[in-house]
Amino acid sequence: MFSFYNGFKKFAFALDPETAHHQSINLLKRFPLVFSEIFGNEEIDNKYEVQVGHCKWGFPVGLAAGLDKNAEAIDYFTRINFGAVEVGTVTPLPQEGNPRPRLFRYVKEESLRNMMGFNNAGSEIIQKNVIDSNRNNKTLGINLGKNKTTPQEQAKDDYFKLYSAFSDYADYLVINLSSPNTPGLRDLQQKDTLLEILNELDDLRLKSPCPLYLKIAPDLSFEDIPGIVDVVKEKQLEGIIATNTTIMPDKGPGGISGKLLQEKSRIVRSKVLECVKESPEIQVIGVGGVSSFDDLWSFWKAGGKVMQLYTSFIYQGPGVLDSIKHGIDHIMRTNQVDSVSEIISSIDKIENTFSS
Ligand SMILES: Cc1cc2nc3c(=O)[nH]c(=O)nc-3n(C[C@H](O)[C@H](O)[C@H](O)COP(=O)(O)O)c2cc1C
Repeated sequence: MFSFYNGFKKFAFALDPETAHHQSINLLKRFPLVFSEIFGNEEIDNKYEVQVGHCKWGFPVGLAAGLDKNAEAIDYFTRINFGAVEVGTVTPLPQEGNPRPRLFRYVKEESLRNMMGFNNAGSEIIQKNVIDSNRNNKTLGINLGKNKTTPQEQAKDDYFKLYSAFSDYADYLVINLSSPNTPGLRDLQQKDTLLEILNELDDLRLKSPCPLYLKIAPDLSFEDIPGIVDVVKEKQLEGIIATNTTIMPDKGPGGISGKLLQEKSRIVRSKVLECVKESPEIQVIGVGGVSSFDDLWSFWKAGGKVMQLYTSFIYQGPGVLDSIKHGIDHIMRTNQVDSVSEIISSIDKIENTFSS
């Protein structure tokens, strides 16, 4: 099963990254069952479940936004062992994104650089895709972004439209203000603009409640993080997703993901976890360079529960979930605990005897 993915990867990596991406999504969309069987995944049961705010994750690792931007392959991604699947980013109107080439591989570093620019089919088509999809009883998140042509001061209107369009169909929604590829987007993470966007959603959230997250950039300064956390608490968001891709100008424009992002992301995640320590109602979903059980373990040790990944799925395929599962199984066996929830709740007493 792992070797099947390696064969597939040889073929896919011979193509330019974006062509490989579109062709793969197309195959996964058309043959979800076939690919979930041939790429496989080991069986899991409810001992891997984790309650994350209002949502149940079947496994402590989910799919990060951006891989299935148009919500076309939900049936496939929810069949394999992702604990939750996040689709998008969706913008109100369809958008082409930046000119190609806009996706690059750094194979040795198991990393990617992208400057896609929220290319997506727009909320009308994506809403239909979501409604028609089979999500296999998994938690589905939908990631929301503003159109490039929407002026900054009207960004709140875009998020309003998107919340209205998707709150009935998602298990959670994400306000994305952290892509480096939409000019000015990250500036909206400032406390006052962030509040303005969230205030606009107040009435809607009362009428049509849906757990709401904020996805943040790893390039925020440490001083900005407590202010953002305060807003998240004040507006009673479900939590924070940390982090999006990072900028590394020496590598070129766009956002870097994968192992090259890992350390920066880890540091920001730890800071966020420290800021929410006294607020257990705030969830922190960790993302950025997650590629092994050790990454999950260090997130657990820092006080987190669940993570997402994208880039390691490109390099390792669904096998990345199996290798994380092997780590979890080992920890359960050697520490005589019965569930992931138990590991997380008694993490200070658990010993990591697994080396990946
Ligand atoms: C090609 C590509 C496209 C992405 N598109 C989005 C997106 O549309 N919305 C979003 O919130 N994050 C997007 N991301 C960021 C990922 O969701 C994730 O936060 C980031 O890649 C770090 O995780 P990783 O190191 O596991 O890839 C994208 C990442 C990549 C590599």
